Amino acid sequence: MTGGEHAVLHLEKVCKTYGAGETIVRALRDVDLEVRRGDFVAIIGPSGSGKSTLMNILGCLDIPTSGRYLFAGEDVMRMRDDQLAHIRNLRIGFVFQQFHLLKKLTAWRNVELPLLYRRASRRRETAMRALGMVGLDHRVDHTPNQLSGGQQQRVAIARALVTDPELILADEPTGNLDTTSTRDILAILEQLHKDGRTIVLITHDPEIASVAPRVVRISDGVLTEEAVGTAIELDGRRARAAKPRTARAPRRRAASPMIVEDAASA
Ligand SMILES: Nc1ncnc2c1ncn2[C@@H]1O[C@H](COP(=O)(O)OP(=O)(O)OP(=O)(O)O)[C@@H](O)[C@H]1O
Ligand SMILES: [Mg+2]
Repeated sequence: MTGGEHAVLHLEKVCKTYGAGETIVRALRDVDLEVRRGDFVAIIGPSGSGKSTLMNILGCLDIPTSGRYLFAGEDVMRMRDDQLAHIRNLRIGFVFQQFHLLKKLTAWRNVELPLLYRRASRRRETAMRALGMVGLDHRVDHTPNQLSGGQQQRVAIARALVTDPELILADEPTGNLDTTSTRDILAILEQLHKDGRTIVLITHDPEIASVAPRVVRISDGVLTEEAVGTAIELDGRRARAAKPRTARAPRRRAASPMIVEDAASA
């Protein structure tokens, strides 16, 4: 791999260790990964394999111990804290297992939050549009406790989208959902991919991973690319997986970029 200027994410020999001496944990070992604009990549691995460690690094929440990480061609490891915060706030849309919505705010107010921080104009309109993209036009004035889990996660996805980020980073987004809601959320991710969005989906579940055209496996901190065109074994049956890569649709630009820590971590 070379510079990776055209990639959204470019990792080269990225290592992450925790602790030192006898208790050292090598959570990521020489990870190479390139995610290009419009890619939809699932990263799958069992508990303790390094998924959260990798997610923290991809999301600029943590820094590798060694190696190279470029976000949209920029060297993350040379950035100051405020520059890293800028990427987290403006350029990555996070979706977490626990939806992290503010309980007292209605759906549209939750989605509006990232826009507030950048004092964007037409915030309601932009938030409504994002809620429309996830099929929640009819629930915009409901608070989280008036919404089902699946609907809450759709609000969270709308909030991740509202800034028009370069990357959507979803960590076990269906981990708290029933089968029907899981299907809905995965359908939304597939649609976002068709619309040209770049998505990284982290999961321990092969069935979830199989919605992504590209699957990368992590095991003991080592990343392995699944061959394109192979299928994942699911309890003896073959799941739809790793479809051949198709041409990338141009990325659609929505109105406005920007997200803020608090929105993701609140
Ligand atoms: N802060 C830390 N200090 C020491 N070791 C850690 C730390 N965080 C993670 N680890 C270790 O690093 C390895 C990878 O952990 P990580 O949390 O990335 O796994 P994971 O794939 O997300 O697991 P799970 O599916 O259970 O969430 C594990 O062996 C874990 O014990
Ligand atoms: Mg984890």
